[in-house]
Amino acid sequence: MQKSILIIGACGQIGTELTIALREKYGNEAVIASDIREGSDALMASGPFELLDATDYEAIENVVMYYEIEEVYLMAAMLSATAEKFPMRAWNLNMNSLFNVLNLAKDKKIDKIFWPSSIAVFGPNTPKTETPQHTLMEPSTVYGISKQSGERWCEYYFKKFDVDVRSVRYPGLISWKTLPGGGTTDYAVEIYHKALEDKKYTCFLAEGTKLPMMFMDDAIRATVSLMEANPEELSIRSSYNLGAMSFGPEEIASNIKAHLPEFEINYDPDFRQAIADSWPSSIDDAQAKLDWNWKPEFDLEKTTTEMLKNLMN
Ligand SMILES: NC(=O)c1ccc[n+]([C@@H]2O[C@H](COP(=O)([O-])OP(=O)(O)OC[C@H]3O[C@@H](n4cnc5c(N)ncnc54)[C@H](O)[C@@H]3O)[C@@H](O)[C@H]2O)c1
Repeated sequence: MQKSILIIGACGQIGTELTIALREKYGNEAVIASDIREGSDALMASGPFELLDATDYEAIENVVMYYEIEEVYLMAAMLSATAEKFPMRAWNLNMNSLFNVLNLAKDKKIDKIFWPSSIAVFGPNTPKTETPQHTLMEPSTVYGISKQSGERWCEYYFKKFDVDVRSVRYPGLISWKTLPGGGTTDYAVEIYHKALEDKKYTCFLAEGTKLPMMFMDDAIRATVSLMEANPEELSIRSSYNLGAMSFGPEEIASNIKAHLPEFEINYDPDFRQAIADSWPSSIDDAQAKLDWNWKPEFDLEKTTTEMLKNLMN
């Protein structure tokens, strides 16, 4: 029998592509998309959709019972830049949505959970390059504090209640299908749109701000393979470090220039610079490689080619 999957926050940057990828894999009717708003035409046309608030336990439980859901992917969250503006709303959404899903699994109403963490769990005192899986953390943003607390709770529910929860610390994600939702790495998507529209871009991060990044196809592949991995092989139940590439805005700009020679970049850093400065510049993901054979396929050059090709169409 086909397993039944619920995606909460399915209409965002990751959820949109994840929903479509899971529908291709498990069948359209087996993957229920949900969000507090409707998504893209492609997403809405591809299978079942429910309006669902991630902070409403009863509403989630009703959907889980109705569709006999076995796995939940919780993608609803308030991202780093927006969370600095609305700290209490961010805490409420990011934590209570996670508790709702963890408690459903604790009560054996679902079997498996995917919950994404972020490189934002690290802070200014963390070693900046090749940041290890286990290290000093001390996040200094509301978002990072919520993700680190989430990681602790995931591991706690795994150890205490045998909840099968799996997680990765996504770096900044680059995609062309859906715009990003208020994070500090959003510039790495905007820059491609502006390069094609205006041939110039003013970056809200300074030159030299090197951050870990990943193309969306790699992020989706990582998510699906972690969820398919044999549970005995998983040594991390907080969240896995996940790496692919690291670069600053000037490197992405010179990559774009190779395709569009007239492209120009300027810098006008805003409040997001302080958030970026508190994060690692590169990630050591040896444990993910060892435990479930993680291997990225996209570097910056391949990402740029893919982004420009698809956005031009
Ligand atoms: N995109 C990235 O670069 C990145 C990096 C690290 C971690 N993450 C994490 O991945 C997850 C998904 O991120 P994303 O980039 O797709 O975010 P996004 O902002 O693009 O999408 C989040 C979705 O959640 C929905 N949502 C908001 N409040 C909700 C609620 N109360 N109930 C149900 N849905 C609600 C929004 O409508 C939106 O469609 C988040 O947990 C985020 O922290 C993302």
